[in-house]
Amino acid sequence: MGQPDCRLRDVFWAERSAGTGDNRKETPMILETKRLILRPWTEDDAEECFRYAKDPRVGPAAGWQVHTSVENTREIIRNVLAVLETYCIILKETGLPVGSIGLHHNDLAVRDDEMELGYWLGVPYWGQGLVPEAAEEVLRHAFQDLGLARVWCAYYDGNTKSKRVQEKLGFRYQWTNESVPVPLLGETRMGHVNLMTKEEWREAHHGLPA
Ligand SMILES: CC(C)(COP(=O)(O)OP(=O)(O)OC[C@H]1O[C@@H](n2cnc3c(N)ncnc32)[C@H](O)[C@@H]1OP(=O)(O)O)[C@@H](O)C(=O)NCCC(=O)NCCS
Repeated sequence: MGQPDCRLRDVFWAERSAGTGDNRKETPMILETKRLILRPWTEDDAEECFRYAKDPRVGPAAGWQVHTSVENTREIIRNVLAVLETYCIILKETGLPVGSIGLHHNDLAVRDDEMELGYWLGVPYWGQGLVPEAAEEVLRHAFQDLGLARVWCAYYDGNTKSKRVQEKLGFRYQWTNESVPVPLLGETRMGHVNLMTKEEWREAHHGLPA
């Protein structure tokens, strides 16, 4: 995962905090869908996050290591997940965290007006369309609220589940990298890169060209 771009972040918070000082702690962005609440991660989520992040079917597919303890998860929440534009996915039915979704800048999304979408979900919840549902709302937020021009999304070769999510969302294939470094796992993999532009998103959702 890349780190958030500070310029975009600061402009965004400056606008949201206008006239009231720095209220970023008091007014976190919360998004909502039919079945989900998307809200910032806090260290109190460590236990529930660890429940799913300790499963070897989750992190390695997305390029990160299996979490080793609740304390390890707490540290990762503090240092990686608790940033602007990364959301804890809460199932309304239970009120508990089940995964993560977010937008970030990295080598793929370097410009201020583009970000990459990333996500993961606890195994017991796979196959219910929850991440596509969350991603639809995050894409709306990206194009409408943040004013992004392009959202990238990528998956490692063989990750058919993530490939399928990106197809269902309407991302368009761009290119394949034969050898992408996966720094947290100390290896390289083949990676496939997809893109959605604001025009494509608008056309898909309103049937109108931009
Ligand atoms: C990729 C992931 C986020 C998908 O989330 P999801 O909410 O289950 O997505 P969907 O319900 O739309 O399922 C997507 C596809 O996964 C497959 N799938 C669903 N449940 C499955 C299961 N229990 N076992 C195997 N495959 C399954 C199906 O092919 C499905 O496509 P379909 O809707 O056409 O049947 C989730 O599998 C995950 O967290 N994987 C590990 C982390 C990861 O790969 N992150 C993305 C990195 S790029």
